[in-house]
Amino acid sequence: MLDTMVWGGDRLTILDQTKLPAVTEYIDCFDHLRVKEAIARLEVRGAPAIGAAAAFAMVLGAKHIEHEPFLSQLEEIAADLESARPTAVNLAWGCRTVYELAAKLYGEGLRGTPLVKKLEAKALSIYEEDIAANKKMGDLGAALLPNDATVLTHCNAGALATCGWGTAMGVVRSAFYRGKIKMVYSDETRPLLQGARLTAYELAEEGIPVTCITDGMAAWTMKQKKVDCVIVGADRIAANGDTANKIGTFNLALAAKALHIPFYVAAPASTFDLHLADGSTIPIEERSPLEVKTFAGSVVAPEKAAVFNPAFDVTPADLITAIITEIGVITPPYEKNIARLLRNEV
Ligand code: MRU
Repeated sequence: MLDTMVWGGDRLTILDQTKLPAVTEYIDCFDHLRVKEAIARLEVRGAPAIGAAAAFAMVLGAKHIEHEPFLSQLEEIAADLESARPTAVNLAWGCRTVYELAAKLYGEGLRGTPLVKKLEAKALSIYEEDIAANKKMGDLGAALLPNDATVLTHCNAGALATCGWGTAMGVVRSAFYRGKIKMVYSDETRPLLQGARLTAYELAEEGIPVTCITDGMAAWTMKQKKVDCVIVGADRIAANGDTANKIGTFNLALAAKALHIPFYVAAPASTFDLHLADGSTIPIEERSPLEVKTFAGSVVAPEKAAVFNPAFDVTPADLITAIITEIGVITPPYEKNIARLLRNEV
């Protein structure tokens, strides 16, 4: 599988996911501004990958601060990076994790290269821990699937959306290597086709059976192809389990409920936002109308028509069968069980 990003000490080299699957190209980012641009353009995308890229961007930012006040400049860099995309909480989490370490070390008197080296080690550990978390999620999630499973997914919550292995597709990957996967149906995921361009690509490259469908085919496919479960990733999960993910996820949850098919969300602990009681206040990114009015460079809608282009939706917790994390599988009642697992509350 292709690396989503590679840390080079003086640069973060990012796989340009806007060009896949036709072209494999990497972009060298020498400063945090280029990483921010890559996040906004979806050259790097997927909540955990954005979080890790942001952590590395903070290191690049810290490296280039030459004068005091160090911490307030680093804080500005974090705020700037966080503004690149609003929905995935992992972005803010990646920035804050590095910032908080910087503030602590600065408070202890550390300055310059020794301080930056510690931040670099932190960003690298975020990267490594993401892969380890995905593998744990994969083990826990694979156990939930029946043998010969037919799974449906949306967008790309695979290796490409993370530092490696994937969340929802990490579960599929782990199940595949246990001989449990018969077929994965991958929604195309309009407008930007992450399901067709990225999920189908990464699964097919690895020999995992995958069938592409357009988004409108999902409910019928679930019924006709006897889909055993739907598995998706997440960009932000509120304290009550309401889950923001790629636009179209809510439709799948409704269809799964109507067809009595389990609907699973797979996400690391860093995707939970326990400051939000429920999903009503999750910020939903709206993107350019051009993403809807054009397709592969061709105009497909009249110029005078208005466009609504939310990049994410929120699936209410009561439509979710279970949330698979690296520290355990959470089932309803979510408010109590999320708090118990993430806050160690009994
Ligand atoms: O707009 P994107 O491509 O960043 O959206 C990605 C998703 O919605 C994923 O499902 C989510 O980030 C989980 S990735 C493991």
